[in-house]
Amino acid sequence: MAKNRSTFICQSCAAISTQWAGRCEACGEWNSIIEELQNTGVGSGPKATKASGKPAQLSSLSGKPEDAERIISGLAELDRVSGGGFVKGSTMLVGGDPGIGKSTLLLQAASALANKGYSVIYISGEEAIAQVQLRAKRLGLANSPVKLASETNVEIILSTLEHQNGADLVIIDSIQTLWTERVDSAPGTVTQVRTSAQALTRFAKKSGAAVVLVGHVTKDGQIAGPRVVEHMVDAVVYFEGDASHTYRILRAVKNRYGATDEIGVFEMTQKGLSEVSNPSALFLDQRDESATGCAVFAGMEGTRPLLVEIQALVAPSPLGTPRRAVVGWDSSRLSMILAVLETHCGVKIGANDIYLNVAGGLKISEPAADMAVAAALISSLTNRVLPKEAVFFGEISLSGGTRAVVHSALRLREAAKLGFTSAYSGKFSSEKTNAAIKLIEFADLLALVSKIGSFKDG
Ligand code: TYD
Ligand code: MG
Repeated sequence: MAKNRSTFICQSCAAISTQWAGRCEACGEWNSIIEELQNTGVGSGPKATKASGKPAQLSSLSGKPEDAERIISGLAELDRVSGGGFVKGSTMLVGGDPGIGKSTLLLQAASALANKGYSVIYISGEEAIAQVQLRAKRLGLANSPVKLASETNVEIILSTLEHQNGADLVIIDSIQTLWTERVDSAPGTVTQVRTSAQALTRFAKKSGAAVVLVGHVTKDGQIAGPRVVEHMVDAVVYFEGDASHTYRILRAVKNRYGATDEIGVFEMTQKGLSEVSNPSALFLDQRDESATGCAVFAGMEGTRPLLVEIQALVAPSPLGTPRRAVVGWDSSRLSMILAVLETHCGVKIGANDIYLNVAGGLKISEPAADMAVAAALISSLTNRVLPKEAVFFGEISLSGGTRAVVHSALRLREAAKLGFTSAYSGKFSSEKTNAAIKLIEFADLLALVSKIGSFKDG
C-alpha cells in the first residue's frame, strides 16, 4: 500500500505542489494552498477491483441515437434552462451566492416533481430536517411526497440512495458540506468536494437517476468553489441576482444536453420563487418615459429577447479627471463609445462626469447595446428626450460605423409585443421580419447623433 503523503493543493485552481507557498504559482491566488493527505484522493477513483484489466467494450458513433429521457418539473423557467427538464442519469450543478435562493428553487422543483409521481430524494447537508420542513411549510409544499434526509457522509448517502431503489431525482444541498471516508482531508476542501462529486456522478450514471448538486460560490473565491467540479458534471447552471432586487436569474453555462446561454427569470416573493414569464415587462416596469438620458435596449439573453432600460447621466465635472461610473455594463466599452463620439461625431463629452446604469441591476455583455448606450449619453448631454415608443440596438465600430447584430428579428418581435412602434438600429442584417414595427437604420453613429438633435427638449 502506498505511503501516506502530503500534497499541497490550491483551493482556487486545484494546482498541486509538493510544498506549501503563500501564493499559488499557477493562478497567482494568495493564501489558497492547503495541505491534504494524499493516500487516495483526486484521480485515484474507486479502489481497484478484480475487474481491473478487463477491456472496455468499444462501439461506433453511429449507434441508435436514444433521446435522453427527461423529467419535466413544470417550472417552465427551470425547464427552459435545463434544456427541457432534468436528464435521467446525468448530474447538474446549481451554483450561486449563499442566500440567493438555490435551496428554495430546488425544494419547489422537488415538490412539483414528487406531486407528479416521481420519486424525489432531497438530501440536505446544511439544514436540519426541521429547518427544511419549516421552509416547506412556509412555501405551502409540506404535503408533497418528497423524501427528505439530513446527511453529509457520502457513503451513507449512497447506501441510502441504493436502498431507495429507483429514485428519479436526487438533490444534494450542498456539495461543500459532503465528506467521504475515502479521503482524509477536511470537508469543503478540493479533494473532498471532487471525490464526493465523482462518487455521486458515478451513482447517477449507474442508477439512471438525475442528480442535482448545489454549490456555493462567493466573490472572494471561497474554498473549493463549485468550479472544481464543473468538468465532471453534465450541466452547470448559476443562480444570480443581487440582494437589493427581488428577481433572480438562472443561467446555463454548460449543458451536454441542451443549449447554453439560456436564462430563466424568477422573482423572490413571500411564498418562494415565482416564475417571470415576461421579464421585459419586469425590467421596464418603473420606466420614466419623459426623462432624458433613458434609452430602451432590445437585448438578447441566450435565445430570448429581453428589453431593458439604459440610463445615462452626463454632468459637468468639477474635477480635473472626470468620473466614470458604470453599473451593469463594461466600462471599457463605455470609454470606446465616448472616444467614437468625440472623434467621429464631434461631440464634446469627454470632460463631463458620466454615470451609466442598466436599470433593475441586470448585467449586459452584448456589444449590441452600443447604440442604446450612445443614444442615452447623447440624450442626457443635449437634454433631448428619446421617443418613448422606440427601442435601440446595434453595434458601433471604432470607425464610427454601425454593424448588424444577430437575432434582429427576435428583438423586433419582442419590442412590438410590448407596444414599441419604432426601432433605431445599426445596419440591418438580412433577417426578414414581419413584426409591426418601424425600422430606422443608421449607417453610422453621426447619423444617430443628428437624429437625436431633432427631438424635442426635455
Ligand atoms: P435559500 O434558498 O436558503 O438560499 P441558498 O440555498 O441559495 O443559500 O434562500 C434564502 C433567502 O431567500 C432568504 O434570505 C430569504 C429568502 N426567501 C424569501 O424571500 N421567501 C421565501 O419564501 C423563502 C423560502 C426564502
Ligand atoms: Mg441553501
